[in-house]
Amino acid sequence: MRIVLVGPPGAGKGTQATRLAEKLRIPHISTGDLFRANISRQTDLGKLAKSYMDAGNLVPDEVTIAMAKDRMEQPDAVDGFLLDGFPRNVQQAEALDALLKSEDIKLDAVLDLEVPEEEVVKRIAGRRICRNDSSHVFHESYSAPKQAGVCDTCGGELYQRDDDSEDTVRTRLEVYHTQTEPIIDYYKAQGLVVTISSLGPVDEITRRALEALKREDATQ
Ligand code: AP5
Repeated sequence: MRIVLVGPPGAGKGTQATRLAEKLRIPHISTGDLFRANISRQTDLGKLAKSYMDAGNLVPDEVTIAMAKDRMEQPDAVDGFLLDGFPRNVQQAEALDALLKSEDIKLDAVLDLEVPEEEVVKRIAGRRICRNDSSHVFHESYSAPKQAGVCDTCGGELYQRDDDSEDTVRTRLEVYHTQTEPIIDYYKAQGLVVTISSLGPVDEITRRALEALKREDATQ
């Protein structure tokens, strides 16, 4: 399957993408994680991306699209992928459509995670991620690690993302509403959007997502 995951910051995209990718046996491609990996390796792309990310703004389309395209063309993504955080505006959605068309393939679904803004703020304030792998995500109270400050999966140090400060989160939410939400209508016009609530226990949301995707698949 080829799926796009969309939702505001803190909706649980990364949390659900890890689980869905495992269940559906497709790679989880997160542009946020790819940028963070570049930042920790101190590449030129990482240095460029950091200034935009720390301010809560989108990294320019040109470098983002090239990075996402390069990752989607890796051998593990030939039969499907789950995109998390890409596309993030209509220009990126159009670039993705053009790329898929050139390969004669299509998206199967756009999974839209709905969550109220006050919950987003609580989730982001308590989020802690692993220095070794930013897909290892915890929450101080909702999904606390067994030992405070230590990743359950690999023993790495847990830290708070630089862009998780209150001010930056406000900017990220505004950017989501003005630039990313329009892609939901863009994909609705293609009949691809499946919306589920991202409130409740993590396992329950994964179950909800798999059921919604199965229904979508049956209509193809
Ligand atoms: P990115 O890393 O994609 O961040 P985001 O979209 O803002 O989303 P988050 O990672 O904040 O949240 P999430 O929905 O993954 O939630 P999570 O699962 O962690 O992007 C960061 C930046 O990179 C952007 O601002 C931009 O600058 C740049 N960027 C990335 N892609 C780009 C693109 N395409 N174009 C341009 N720029 C781009 O969950 C949050 C917390 O809640 C966790 O602590 C988790 O444990 C907890 N939680 C999850 N589910 C539940 C639940 N059901 N109940 C209780 N707690 C829960």
